[in-house]
Amino acid sequence: MNDFPFEIRPATEADVAALTEFGARTFRESFGKDNTAEDMEKHLASAWRTDLQRDEILDPSIDTLIARDLRGNLGGFAMMRERHSPPGVSVLRPVELWRFYVDKPWQGRVLAQALMNAVEASARARGGRELWLGVWERNERAQAFYRKCGFEKVGEQIFVVGSDPQTDHVMLRKLA
Ligand SMILES: CC(C)(COP(=O)(O)OP(=O)(O)OC[C@H]1O[C@@H](n2cnc3c(N)ncnc32)[C@H](O)[C@@H]1OP(=O)(O)O)[C@@H](O)C(=O)NCCC(=O)NCCS
Repeated sequence: MNDFPFEIRPATEADVAALTEFGARTFRESFGKDNTAEDMEKHLASAWRTDLQRDEILDPSIDTLIARDLRGNLGGFAMMRERHSPPGVSVLRPVELWRFYVDKPWQGRVLAQALMNAVEASARARGGRELWLGVWERNERAQAFYRKCGFEKVGEQIFVVGSDPQTDHVMLRKLA
């Protein structure tokens, strides 16, 4: 099998259903064991619905990149937002890496790096000068990956899952 069977491209309206299913599934798989079932259901119902993903894909201030194979299966996705600044940090032209997920069978391989390269290109194309993100303080694998990609911790913010306020590390890197 091809080691990298994915095409990374901007999502279109035709990708809405697949993105919603994939986003909800990977969030649950990644964080289900660390949250109550009630908080998880509340979060998924508020963030992963086809009407929301349709609006997000069509929103000109949001870039959604998906990695799909020839059969149409998703291996990962990334979403970036303009008009959001990291809390407490002075920045020139920030782009937030809002969501970044790779399916479990593809973790530890080259997909995450390929997706990050596409994220950087997309943020630069928007005129971004800084790329930033929030990552759960307990998500050490993601933090290690982001450090490998040149991000550094610059602060903290709260991210509410259901009714549970959780502390995120805010990480930032400059775009050359
Ligand atoms: C975050 C994510 C995109 C990173 O992609 P990935 O393919 O797993 O990343 P990599 O394997 O290249 O890098 C992870 C690094 O963390 C290390 N690592 C693995 N488990 C770890 C752990 N429990 N604690 C600390 N480091 C860990 C790996 O060894 C690797 O470092 P190395 O390349 O120097 O060996 C992917 O893991 C993912 O989608 N996770 C679930 C969703 C998620 O957390 N998204 C981010 C939300 S902010």
